[in-house]
Parts: sequence; C-alpha cells; structure tokens
Amino acid sequence: MAKLTTQYVCQQCGRVSARPFGKCPGCGGWNTMVEEVIEAASASSAAAKSSVHGLNARSAPKRMSEIAGDAEERIQLPIGEFARVLGGGVVPGSIVLVGGDPGIGKSTLLLQMAMEMATPVEDKKQGFKVLYVSGEESERQIKMRAMRLTRLAGEGGKPFSEDLLLLTETNLDTILEQVSAVNPDLLIVDSIQTVYLPDMNSTAGSVSQVRECANRLRELAKSSGMAVFLVGHVTKEGVIAGPRVLEHVVDTVLYLEGDRFQSYRLLRSVKNRFGATAEVGVFEMRDRGMVEVTNPSEAFLAERMVNTPGSAIAVTMEGTRPLLVEIQGLTSPSNVGNPRRTPNGVDFNRLLMLTAVLTRRMGLRLAEHDVFANVIGGLRIDEPAADLAIAAAVASSFRDVPVRADTVLIGEVGLSGELRWVGQMNARLREAAKLGFKTAVIPHRVSHGEALPTGIEIKEARSLREALSFALLPE
Ligand code: TYD
Ligand code: MG
Repeated sequence: MAKLTTQYVCQQCGRVSARPFGKCPGCGGWNTMVEEVIEAASASSAAAKSSVHGLNARSAPKRMSEIAGDAEERIQLPIGEFARVLGGGVVPGSIVLVGGDPGIGKSTLLLQMAMEMATPVEDKKQGFKVLYVSGEESERQIKMRAMRLTRLAGEGGKPFSEDLLLLTETNLDTILEQVSAVNPDLLIVDSIQTVYLPDMNSTAGSVSQVRECANRLRELAKSSGMAVFLVGHVTKEGVIAGPRVLEHVVDTVLYLEGDRFQSYRLLRSVKNRFGATAEVGVFEMRDRGMVEVTNPSEAFLAERMVNTPGSAIAVTMEGTRPLLVEIQGLTSPSNVGNPRRTPNGVDFNRLLMLTAVLTRRMGLRLAEHDVFANVIGGLRIDEPAADLAIAAAVASSFRDVPVRADTVLIGEVGLSGELRWVGQMNARLREAAKLGFKTAVIPHRVSHGEALPTGIEIKEARSLREALSFALLPE
C-alpha cells in the first residue's frame, strides 16, 4: 500500500524537511530546496533519502568540513535515571534496545515512561505523540497496569496523560502501517520477540525474524526521525533470543538487571552510539511501579548492621557514578572434603583468588572452611577495586572481629598480597566522605599527582596485611 507524501530536499546539502524553506536550515543556501514525492510506505527507499543522520540521496563522499557537526538534538526523558543511562535523552531517529530477564520490569518501566512522555509539560499544550505496541499483553491488561502506575503519580505528582496510544498487534506489516499513519515521536515495541513479518517463513522470535523486524523498524526510525524502543527478553542462556544479534542493529543497548527477589533494578548501558557506556540508572520496583533511586549509596547501606563481623564497605564505580555497597563475607567450618566457595554478586574466580591470597599471604586457614561472599542490594560487582572489601569481609568473618564501621576499603589485591591502585580514586573518596565515612583505606600512592580530597582520613597501605590492620578492630 503505497502512500504518497511530499518532502523537500536541499540540492546542496541533502537536508530533508517536511516544509519548504527559502533558506535551507542545513547549509544556509538560498532557494536550494526542491519538492519531492515519496512513497511513505516504502521504508527502505525513504531511508535512502533520509538525512536524519546525514545519509544522503546521492551517496558521494564529502569532506569532513562540509558535514554539519552540531550536537545531536535530544528528546528529554521525564525519568532522570533513564535519561542518564542514555546520555541525557533520546536522539530522534535512534533505536534503543532494552533487554532483561522476563519479569524484571521492562514493560513496567517503558509504560511508565510512555505515559509520562505523552503528558504535556507545563509550557506546552501537548505531550509527545507516543505509540506503545504490545505483542505480549492485552489492552485490558495494559490499561490495568497503567492505572496501577497512575496512582503513583496521583500522590503529589501530576496525573498521567490519557493520550498514550496503544496497539496490541504482532504482525509487523500492520504495525508499520499504523506507525506511518500515526507518525509518533516515540514508538515502543514490547517485545521484539513477539512481532513477525508474515512473508518470512520462520516463527516469531527466531533469529531471522527478530533481526529482520528490527531492521525494518530501524529503517523507519531513521527515515521518519521517531525514536524507537525495543524490548527484548533474555533467554536462559543469557543472550536475548536474537537480542545479541540485535546489538549491532540498534544504536543503544540497555540491560535491566537485578535480583528478582530484591527490589533494586539497575539499568545499564552496554552500547551507546550517542553517549558514554557503562552508565547506570538505579530504580526500585515498588508495588506501584519503578521508582528512581537518586541516592543509591544511601539506599544500599540502609539495612547495614554496624559492628558485626563479616561486613565491609566497598566503593565501586558504575559508569561515572561512585556507589558505596556493603559486601558480606561468611566463613564456616566445612564438613566436606572440598570446601565450597559461594559468591553472590562477585565473580567466582575472583573469590577463589582472594581466598587463596588470604590463605597463603595472611595465613588464614580457609582450606577447611566454606567461604561465602555476598553483595547487598542484588548488585553485581566486576571491578577489582572491590577486592580489598571482599577480602576484608571474609577475613573479618573468619577472625570474628568487625571492620571499623566508619571505614571504606578501596583497592585491587594482587597475588602477592600487595595492594594496587585503582582509577577514579577522588570520585570514590568524595562519595564516601559525603555519606559520612571518616576513614578510607586505599593503596599506597606511587605518584602524588592530583591531591586527594579532604574531609576523610586516608590510610595508605602497601599490602592486604597492612590494610586489614588498619580496617579490622583489634581482636
Ligand atoms: P514486567 O514489567 O511485566 O516485566 P517484564 O516486562 O520485564 O517481563 O514486571 C513484572 C513484575 O513486576 C511482576 O512480577 C510484578 C511486578 N510489578 C511490581 O512489583 N510493581 C508494579 O507496579 C508493577 C506494574 C509490576
Ligand atoms: Mg513485559
């Protein structure tokens, strides 16, 4: 079904616009824009003519100096933690994949965002035009969830807009037709595994369907300038059925993670063409939706028991944000020949290594003990900077003496039991000081470059042994 529309293309710079301009907004040339009739339904041909990302109808090489390089305009997102992960907002014409385990809260988060986006902000009469396509739930189910979430806003916040457009459909041809008709600013497809193209011979959710559907949506996004969010489920093997194949199709890949039995959820960016990766947004799943956690360190430390053995505070960097987390260690005499090492939120090999260093360099007789390590809040820490805190938590449990309550531990532990410097020390120390910690045990500084922040006492240690003598209360 070919639908004809008119657009205006600059003959000089290829800028496409819906309206004719005497002076081209792209290159500033006068009377350079000419009328063109296009088939709106044919996404691929429209994509070829798009200029959203500087793609040009006549693909000829250009000098760098001829290409407009102004910062990408972004659509501001109403949810701050979400915007943070995307690098400030969503870029029109871009496509974002939100992956995660089933039941982790992807639909909830995106529905919340969709409703807020559709709500007008003070100075505007209208919110954004948002189309939420679901292949997973019925209209009724989505409405019920929306009402549940709306009550959240009812308490003090403004009520959500009723203007959000909803489509329950899995046939992508139909979806694309509707999208062309509606022409939304923002499209959400929940989930990419449920949609299919009828002229392909494979079932919905298969690699070829998922890839082709995403490609079609991408073409449409690039040609129309709307932003697209795709939801993708992670399968048991840890790859989204298809989503791994999708990672190079989309501009941005976000994963929503967390322990299903805990309320914290982390939205992590693993690929971002328009911003820094490894940025993290923190949410809490409440009974009325996902609530932003703007002070995650405080939240993660809220249930901490001070002056009990087996607990230490690490400062890890999640993107550009330092995060204080409690790490618990437990050792317990083992009655099996091969004692267990059970990490939760810490890498298994990292725990093995630290246990070995504690045994060989510190003389802790852990060979006859089971060792558990746990990161509080359902967080997963991959950073070596947490080594010292993990080792201290285990040693503290083994010796049955607490770590000093007002102390944070930062540093990587080497195989000889030496302590190694880690990056972004100042940001970590400032966060610890801000939360009222009095002392930080850190690795010995080799070079005295940037001055360390004041407001927190610094104890530099060359080795794990020295660090633990500072951090653990005397036996
Ligand atoms: P959902 O967003 O459907 O997960 P996904 O789309 O990632 O599969 O989240 C479902 C879970 O979230 C479900 O266990 C119920 C819970 N939930 C809340 O705790 N609070 C809420 O306000 C909502 C809507 C859901
Ligand atoms: Mg869902």
